[in-house]
Amino acid sequence: MVVTSSELEDGIAQAVEHRRNFAIISHPDAGKTTLTEKLLLYGGAIQEAGAVKAKRTQRSATSDWMALEQQRGISITSTVLQFEYQGHVLNLLDTPGHQDFSEDTYRTLAAADNAVMLIDAAKGLERQTRKLFEVCRLRRLPIFTFINKLDRPSLTPFELMDEIEQELGLATYAVNYPIGTGDRFQGVFERRTRKIHLFQRTAAQGRKKASDTMIDLDDSQIESLIERELYDQFKEELEILEGAGAELDLQAVHRGEMTPVFFGSAMNNFGVELFLQSFMDYAAKPEAYESSLGEVSPTYPEFTGFVFKLQANMDPKHRDRIAFVRVCSGKFEKDMVVKHARTGKTIRLSRPQKLFAQERESVEYAYPGDVIGLNNPGAFTIGDTVYTGEKLVYPPIPSFSPELFAYLRNADPTQYKNFNKGVAELQEEGAVQILHSTDESKREPILAAVGQLQFEVVQFRLAQEYGAETRWEPLPFTVARWVTGGWDALEKVGRLFNTLVVKDRWERPVLLFKNQWNVEQVMSDQPELELSPIGLPPANLTSF
Ligand code: G4P
Repeated sequence: MVVTSSELEDGIAQAVEHRRNFAIISHPDAGKTTLTEKLLLYGGAIQEAGAVKAKRTQRSATSDWMALEQQRGISITSTVLQFEYQGHVLNLLDTPGHQDFSEDTYRTLAAADNAVMLIDAAKGLERQTRKLFEVCRLRRLPIFTFINKLDRPSLTPFELMDEIEQELGLATYAVNYPIGTGDRFQGVFERRTRKIHLFQRTAAQGRKKASDTMIDLDDSQIESLIERELYDQFKEELEILEGAGAELDLQAVHRGEMTPVFFGSAMNNFGVELFLQSFMDYAAKPEAYESSLGEVSPTYPEFTGFVFKLQANMDPKHRDRIAFVRVCSGKFEKDMVVKHARTGKTIRLSRPQKLFAQERESVEYAYPGDVIGLNNPGAFTIGDTVYTGEKLVYPPIPSFSPELFAYLRNADPTQYKNFNKGVAELQEEGAVQILHSTDESKREPILAAVGQLQFEVVQFRLAQEYGAETRWEPLPFTVARWVTGGWDALEKVGRLFNTLVVKDRWERPVLLFKNQWNVEQVMSDQPELELSPIGLPPANLTSF
């Protein structure tokens, strides 16, 4: 059958209609792995929870790379998970959850259409969640809040929602509302169906789906099921919520101004299905992306996408690299021939992969909102655009201010060439940012990262892949700011205190500060000097 352009467009429109793509943002230990598993369990992608976690610990023995993961007991490699739920295709862009998170976490958000902010009910907002939220805000991503661990003593629902409103400036809408917490957790009231779902602790941390017992808000049995005192308190709070709280405004949700809030306990499978059902209805579909040709609708029939992440050595047997591409428009088909916007080269995308945890599966086609993994023999760097049809370029993915800095020293002078090659390639791949001193006598590169883990990965890979043993020497800075006006602007203001001037990979000035207070001091002393926490590749490189 010959597919005409309009038939193709219909197919794409239908696929877009049913796709929901999201990433989970959270602080370590909030329950991201647990929630991910339970979403997969309810999405039918796994029959029993426990597998993803088990794999984390099982898989390492065979490879050095994995050995690093095992030593640290964490998952460095992250994956894209796809599953179906009630006729929808869900893409979960899984970001690493460890405290030493890396720039990959930020970059993954560049490919996400929605974010699920997972919060531990006992702790409320935590550091890493706040940082990731800031990146979501820059992209105006719709945010869905899942407040987890209600089976433990928790802050009150009002305290939790207040914190989100006050600190993040996001309006909240409680989609469901808890009755009691901790040992007295009774269940949640779902506002759209006006039903109470009764909480039950599950056996074996909820490996299998749990049964769901529901009753009406005014059911006469309620007294025998829920403690009177808690029920009365809940009714009072519900009245306040429904009297004073905002209505659910999906447009505000999609603009990233309001967050629907869900309460539950991922470990007990409680609230997970309720979340999925509403998420399907409320989440943003894949939408238009800005490009050099203007807005590109997902239903634009030509295939376009961009690389948001590169991953080395996921498969210890192949030592290969994978470029993760977010599909923005059109339909991707295996063996497709596309253009690479930066190099102008033509490439056949012949071994595309869909990733499910560590198992790879070849993908025949993909639609907007999907992510495909392409084997990357050095062809791609972060932010690269691939396309068919008329040339277009998607904007570069920004570098966010690193928070850790260190001189990287080559321990063995005979390996200098390998050391340089390794550093250049790892920088190109986006594994770490590299800065240089303005003092010509200091030739060692300065590693700049958002998490310590990035340093360890660089050191490990330099030794393994390039035979270069290295040492690093920490520098006492925690903030970087790009000087918007370049060297001229810097010269104009003369001498600056409490800051070190360095160069980025494009020889542009960057200021390093010990702390935020010093940044503010310089900004108030030099109001003319424009500083940015975000570094973008120079325009001539991206032709955007
Ligand atoms: P992360 O990926 O965000 O780091 O968190 P993870 O899912 O690994 O969960 C962190 C800990 O919190 C785990 O306990 C997990 O079982 C627990 N947890 C997750 N959801 C809930 C919940 O709804 N209620 C309660 N009470 N605990 C929850 P752990 O002891 O560190 O590990 P494990 O031995 O239970 O696997």
